[in-house]
Amino acid sequence: MAKKRILSGMRPTGKLHIGHYVGALENWIKLQDEYESCHLIADYHVLTTDLNTHDIYDNTIEMVIDWIAAGLDPVKSPFFRQSQIKEHTELNLLFSMLITKARLERNPTLKEQVRDLNIENIIYGHLGYPVLQSADILLYKGQAVPVGEDQVPHVEITREIARRFNNQYGEVFPEPEPLLTKFARLPGLDGDTKMSKSLGNTILLSDSPEEVSQKLRKAKTDPQKLRRNDPGRPEVCLVFTYHNKFNPDEVAEIEAGCRSGELGCVDCKAKCTANINSFLEPVIAKRNELESDLDQVKDVISDGEKRGGLIAEETMNEVHKAMKLG
Ligand code: TRP
Repeated sequence: MAKKRILSGMRPTGKLHIGHYVGALENWIKLQDEYESCHLIADYHVLTTDLNTHDIYDNTIEMVIDWIAAGLDPVKSPFFRQSQIKEHTELNLLFSMLITKARLERNPTLKEQVRDLNIENIIYGHLGYPVLQSADILLYKGQAVPVGEDQVPHVEITREIARRFNNQYGEVFPEPEPLLTKFARLPGLDGDTKMSKSLGNTILLSDSPEEVSQKLRKAKTDPQKLRRNDPGRPEVCLVFTYHNKFNPDEVAEIEAGCRSGELGCVDCKAKCTANINSFLEPVIAKRNELESDLDQVKDVISDGEKRGGLIAEETMNEVHKAMKLG
């Protein structure tokens, strides 16, 4: 039986942090054997919230280095940029006829972004970005899309557009399913619910052991645990969340030690640092190798764009035929 195809995508915002790993990359790496995967570098999506394109290329390279260093295999699954496969923009235009403005305005993820970023007057491309995302997915006939909770509304819009197209012009597209990432969000070092570059509360996949140690030393813990022997509440401590993820073998012991007061925050953080560092060690080694051979990274992208381009072209031929265009 043929493997199902998945399309996963990420905006190129530079070096990735462990929140990206836990929230997306780890899942993609697991799925790359079970599915035929395509990995999209969503460079056009960056424009929805930042018109300055100065860093896009460098950020793309940094992200791709992290993808490979963390374990995504570009031989198994092509990596490609939205901007370099012209069919994305073409299909985006056709799909923009199949959805109303009111439907796009009802998107809860968009409403959240408008609120968080204090956007007074939204640009047309931002309102329409789920349409471009639908084109990203359906161009490769993605049957499933690994996403976090916030992207589920976009997969729903994709399904509606696919249905609309198929009803109007004949069966071309599948209706993709969201594949929810289980461990959705890693909190940031400041205790904010989300680890994010703009909040400056991240541990990068490329951070050295000393950097990880310094960052964790400053991380917020349970504010009620002031002295070493005070009993703590692991459920409100972000360091405990990191133990949960990166130190599964010791987590029960750490929980008990924190609650009883036997384990102080300094020691707890030292254990956490050691575990995150041993997770990062092979990632950093691979990263260094790739950084000293950037041609290899560029080759990965151009090879991926050739492979992705072939699929895209084939789909657009079907679209043109179904629509009796050309
Ligand atoms: N919208 C996603 C984000 O903002 C990125 C993205 C673009 C994407 N195209 C996609 C994700 C296709 C999955 C599938 O993070």
